[in-house]
Amino acid sequence: HAEAAGSSLTFPELKRVRDTADHWPEGYERQILARWGDALFSDSPEFDIATLDGKAAERQFGYNNDFTQFLPLPWGEKSSDHGLMVVSHEYATPFLMFPGLTDENYREKLTDNQIRAIMAALGVSIFEVRKTDGKWAIVKDGKYNRRIHMSTEIGISGPAAGDDRLKTKADPTGTIVFGTISNCNGGITPWGTMLSGEEGAMDVFAGDYKKLPNQELVERQGWDEDENDIYSVSRVEPRFKFEEEPNEWMRFDWVVEVDPFDPTAKPVKRTSLGRMTHEGAQCCVAPDGRVVVFMGDDDDFEYIYRFVTRDPWNPNDRAANKDLLDHGTLDVAKFESDGTMRWIPLIAGEGPLSAEAGFESQADVVLATRAAADLVGATPMDGPEGFIPHLGTGKLYVAMTENEDRLPKGEGDDEKEMVNIANPRSPNPHGHLLELAAPGGPEKPDYAAESFKWDVFILCGDPAKAEDQAMFHPATTSAGWFTDPDNLAVDPAGRLWVTTDGPPPEGIADSVYVMDTEGPGRALPKLFYIAPVGSETCSPTFTPDGSSVFLSIQHPGELRMADNEDATSMEDAGTDWPDFKPGMPARPSLVVLSRVNNDVVGS
Ligand code: FEO
Ligand code: CA
Ligand code: CA
Ligand code: CA
Repeated sequence: HAEAAGSSLTFPELKRVRDTADHWPEGYERQILARWGDALFSDSPEFDIATLDGKAAERQFGYNNDFTQFLPLPWGEKSSDHGLMVVSHEYATPFLMFPGLTDENYREKLTDNQIRAIMAALGVSIFEVRKTDGKWAIVKDGKYNRRIHMSTEIGISGPAAGDDRLKTKADPTGTIVFGTISNCNGGITPWGTMLSGEEGAMDVFAGDYKKLPNQELVERQGWDEDENDIYSVSRVEPRFKFEEEPNEWMRFDWVVEVDPFDPTAKPVKRTSLGRMTHEGAQCCVAPDGRVVVFMGDDDDFEYIYRFVTRDPWNPNDRAANKDLLDHGTLDVAKFESDGTMRWIPLIAGEGPLSAEAGFESQADVVLATRAAADLVGATPMDGPEGFIPHLGTGKLYVAMTENEDRLPKGEGDDEKEMVNIANPRSPNPHGHLLELAAPGGPEKPDYAAESFKWDVFILCGDPAKAEDQAMFHPATTSAGWFTDPDNLAVDPAGRLWVTTDGPPPEGIADSVYVMDTEGPGRALPKLFYIAPVGSETCSPTFTPDGSSVFLSIQHPGELRMADNEDATSMEDAGTDWPDFKPGMPARPSLVVLSRVNNDVVGS
């Protein structure tokens, strides 16, 4: 038993199951707070897939919710029964959303109205929530309620703003873009704005990418021929076709800053934070008040980054922080053989980032962030996903989700693909967690310091299988181990929460695990929640008193129940969760779990 081994967690651990429904511990209540299509406004049309169009979808909770954060209302106070939810909507799977489509024919068969509905169902949802008599609910027409989607006007700021490579027919200034795409995870700044990572927008574009200028950049950004034009949006908006608008694709895959407390404020793409397949953007404050944003570039052999602002943030004047993220230094991580991790600045004109190498200006650096990081010798990682600071200990945790293609030392001809000190397994199908420690300790962690110490926290896999080479606390039960870590969170009691996203191992769907990071229960996870088959679990976020945890359940039904193969139509999805009604598709949803006695969750 985990408690016997010193874990501080006492909830009854679940058994591993793979089911059409979700599972949570005894003594907890689980509510569905928001489903794809739920009304955010009193004039939101009722969810109806037969008639859904862009006009309806932009008044409703979006699809495939990923990043999720509870912001207490009023902001700055510690309310645990009233707050703002900020949620990102990452991607759509059209053939699981609408009846009669299959993964083979959907690109042609989608109607223009359905395409518009998809465009409006992605992006960001912001809405008030309130707990009354123990029940959480959306506050319709809350004064901050807002949808941001693939057509919302968004500014571009920082070093690449106004660059010729960002100019289009609709925007000859290179400073305004319509829409945000592939909004994966994110973060919250100290002044309460949301950062949303655009992760892999290329998939949405159509046409012949070989005709684009700068093929080196196209290839380095990662192009998958089978995954273009995934929503057929170029049919209703020609700018998404390379031949029509060769620069449009460069205007995505940035970090977008959204002010959830000002529904009239235009979101801004902050190009200073680099262009990559952005997973999250977790914020910390250095002792001198500068803000440090930690980011993973989620692809095999990509890097981990941070951005350090030039100036300290101003806790007394929110407006003074408006453009703080436009000035500062983008760093990439290199794990040295002496056991330290060094942050290397990516600055045009410094070190190998010379004009001859193609880095004349900082715009060149941020537009080709991966190439700049290659040149300075950054450490290629196994798909860096979640990144979370533990404010109580000054440590940070990073999830490497997995990398099947990692090679042993000396195999293949690319050193980048071989094991390294921070990615020690080849292949690495199960992923791992690293623990980073900023100097200064728990009292005064200096997140802006040049060097960090680090350790391998967990090597994922089945501890009962020698070939997995898993490394957990030895008391981890046969239910408590996991693979494919994705999002990480630290609850108000200081425990680490890990969500998974991967081909589920035998007998379990994607799940949520909780563990201590210090003391005798360090790295001893317990299984807390199991999602419906085919779902990914995302982004645990807590009320300040720890009595409720919110979770995003993304893409339920994407895998079939019977054979664990990809579902190819709505009719053949692995589950109809959470409605279980004939004709109703599975709906990505935001759930909330609370203790029946209102104690701290997970404890
Ligand atoms: Fe959208 Fe990196 O997961
Ligand atoms: Ca993720
Ligand atoms: Ca993932
Ligand atoms: Ca996802």
